[in-house]
Order: sequence, then C-alpha cells, then structure tokens
Amino acid sequence: MIILPDEPGLSRALADCILHSASHCVSTQGRFYVALSGGSTPRAAHRLLAGEPVRSAFPWEHTSVFWVDERCVNPDDPASNYGNACRDLLDRVPIPRKNIFPMPAEQPPDLGAIEYERLLASVFELPPDAFPRFDLVLLGLGNDGHTASLFPGDPAPAENGRLVIPVLGGVPKVDRLTLTLPVLNAAAEKVFGVSGREKADAVRAVLESGETRLPASQVSGTRTWFIDMEAASKLAGTSGGGLNENGG
Ligand code: 6PG
Repeated sequence: MIILPDEPGLSRALADCILHSASHCVSTQGRFYVALSGGSTPRAAHRLLAGEPVRSAFPWEHTSVFWVDERCVNPDDPASNYGNACRDLLDRVPIPRKNIFPMPAEQPPDLGAIEYERLLASVFELPPDAFPRFDLVLLGLGNDGHTASLFPGDPAPAENGRLVIPVLGGVPKVDRLTLTLPVLNAAAEKVFGVSGREKADAVRAVLESGETRLPASQVSGTRTWFIDMEAASKLAGTSGGGLNENGG
C-alpha cells in the first residue's frame, strides 16, 4: 500500500506505475495489455499519460487497451468509460487504433458481454475455459466496497465461469458490462487507485477489517494500492482518525 499526500500525488504515482509496467512488459514480452476502469479517479492519471514527459516515453505501439467495465451508453455520454478515456488519453497519444478494444456498450448488454468474451478469446488466443491474463488491470474502489462493476449484494461477484457479464447498478444506475473476478484475479498486476475521504470506510473495511464479503476484498494476487491521505484517513496509524487501541 502506498499512501500519497493528495490526489495529484496519487495520479502521478498511478501514471508512473503504469509507465513502468508498460516499459517492463514491452521490453520482456514485446507487448503490454492493460484494462482500464472508469469513474473519476483514474482520469487525471490518464491525462498525465497523455502529457510529456510520459507520452514520449510510453511504448504506445506495443500497448493494447481494454476495459475493466463499461456503462452501456454512447461514447459521447459523460458516463462513458471509453469516451472519457479517449477524451483524456487515447485521442492524444500515438496508440494504433487497432490496439484499442472498447466494450460493445451500444448493444443489448447480454449480447455485448458475449461479444467481448469472444473478442478476448480471440486477442488472447484463449483455449476453452481459460481466462485472459492482462499485464495490468487498473481498478477503483466504490464507497460500498465495489470494484469494476462488481457490487456487494449483487450476484455478479460470484460469477466464476464467464469472462464478461452484464450488470445493472452503480452510480449512475445503468446497464453495464464488467470483467468477472476470475479475470481480474488472473491479471499479472492489479493496481488500485483510491482518493477521497468518502472512500475511507471502504478502504479500512477492505485493507484492515478483512471484510471478505466486499468485491474489492476478493481481488487476489499481486495488488498495489495507491491511496491518498484522505482515503487512508481511517487506517490505523494514519493522521485524522485511524483505529484506536480498541479497533474502533
Ligand atoms: C465504474 C468504475 C468503478 C469505479 C469506482 C470508483 O465504471 O464506475 O469502474 O468501479 O472504479 O466506482 O469510482 P470513482 O473513481 O469515480 O470514485
């Protein structure tokens, strides 16, 4: 877990982490397959990736971009994760358009999920029943402990056979497509970016209280948490609160 002083510091740390991972993956395996989350937290990091000096250092030619989840809206809609990633990043860097794989958000969600599963199976050359191994999945954390579009109390987090499923929920409450937990867990690196005091309870629940029922707690393997001080404020040992000796 890496605690940053503020949101700008968090965004710089996320951008540096993604650049480092991309450079390492391209130098060792010739490619970097990354899946982006939506929401507001990653947007400043996306904009940093589109600016110098990171833009020129990034191996765009060998990078392929996918999505962790998507709201089933038009790309021009401000809620569109793909649309926002294009506006903040992908329209501003020399990544080949053929390396950008948006979720099919304008189809009926059931069909869109199947179509993206087929795309992943093709791009990753998956044998039957295998899960794609992204080099990095960039994840957020909701106030309720959700990640991707895997919401507590919804059946989606328990799905362990499919790669992509339709979900209704979140804020805004819309139809969504989301990667399933087995796909997230198959990734080489899971990087969480969390900012803001409104996330402090969820951060504490996931990172300290061991709330295993929360979807974000069920992401396993190599995880890196980038958290700003506000979001970390209820963790034991941080200023502004934290656990007392009774854990309260
Ligand atoms: C989405 C995201 C979602 C997001 C969290 C945090 O499409 O809504 O993938 O999982 O990461 O809700 O969102 P914020 O960064 O806006 O707080």
